[in-house]
Amino acid sequence: MASKSWVVLSLLSSFAIILVTGEIDHGFVRRLDRRLLGLKKEKLSHFRFYWQDILGGRNPTAVQIVPPVNKSSSTFFGEINMIDDPLTLEPNLSSKLIGRAQGFYALASQEEVGLLMIMNFAFIEGKYNGSTITVLGRNAVFTKVREMAVIGGSGLFRFARGYAQAKTYKFDNKTGDATVEYNVYVLHY
Ligand SMILES: *[C@@H]1O[C@H](CO)[C@@H](O)[C@H](O)[C@H]1NC(C)=O
Ligand SMILES: *[C@@H]1O[C@H](CO)[C@@H](O)[C@H](O)[C@H]1NC(C)=O
Ligand SMILES: *[C@@H]1O[C@H](CO)[C@@H](O)[C@H](O)[C@H]1NC(C)=O
Ligand SMILES: *[C@@H]1O[C@H](CO)[C@@H](O)[C@H](O)[C@H]1NC(C)=O
Repeated sequence: MASKSWVVLSLLSSFAIILVTGEIDHGFVRRLDRRLLGLKKEKLSHFRFYWQDILGGRNPTAVQIVPPVNKSSSTFFGEINMIDDPLTLEPNLSSKLIGRAQGFYALASQEEVGLLMIMNFAFIEGKYNGSTITVLGRNAVFTKVREMAVIGGSGLFRFARGYAQAKTYKFDNKTGDATVEYNVYVLHY
């Protein structure tokens, strides 16, 4: 009995030492209780919307900013497009706008059409207005379902992590316009 409580006591005191030494103040860093930032319980949310990439017409939302290294290459390797793509509730472009995908994608594969996506989903709808989710990942556009990482966010998505799955709904091979269904699974507070 006595030895047991001694073990418990010494464990507790070593935790206390870790806690204390863990809080050494370097002048620019300190430990915080997450509740001080209003962070309570982490939750999992599933978002579904449609990403509208419009290259053709008079009002493109995706604009080439760097041309491919070799213009006759079928993989467009080296090309970079800046995007400000509408995110809509339904596949129809005139359905409710819930936000925009802002960032760029780069043609990063020499073997296939494989994009490096770097974008923020900037929401404008309801309580999500002003909050963003940041996605960075690989998008091999001719694969049925592509998965990219959610690497963070702002506002309601502080400390966010998760993944996004993209599935092409419609692709116009003349203009390059695409409507892509996004299912985004995010852990956030
Ligand atoms: C450009 O791509 C075409 C088609 O793949 C290829 O035939 C050609 O050799 C490439 N040119 C250069 C300079 O790599
Ligand atoms: C898209 O929505 C517009 C306006 O609501 C409607 O006129 C049009 O028929 C719809 N198109 C399709 C393909 O559902
Ligand atoms: C979103 O927030 C902006 C800036 O605060 C505001 O101007 C806008 O009306 C809001 N939009 C919606 C749909 O609530
Ligand atoms: C575009 O799609 C049509 C119909 O699916 C097909 O016949 C045509 O070959 C495609 N063109 C290109 C350049 O892939």
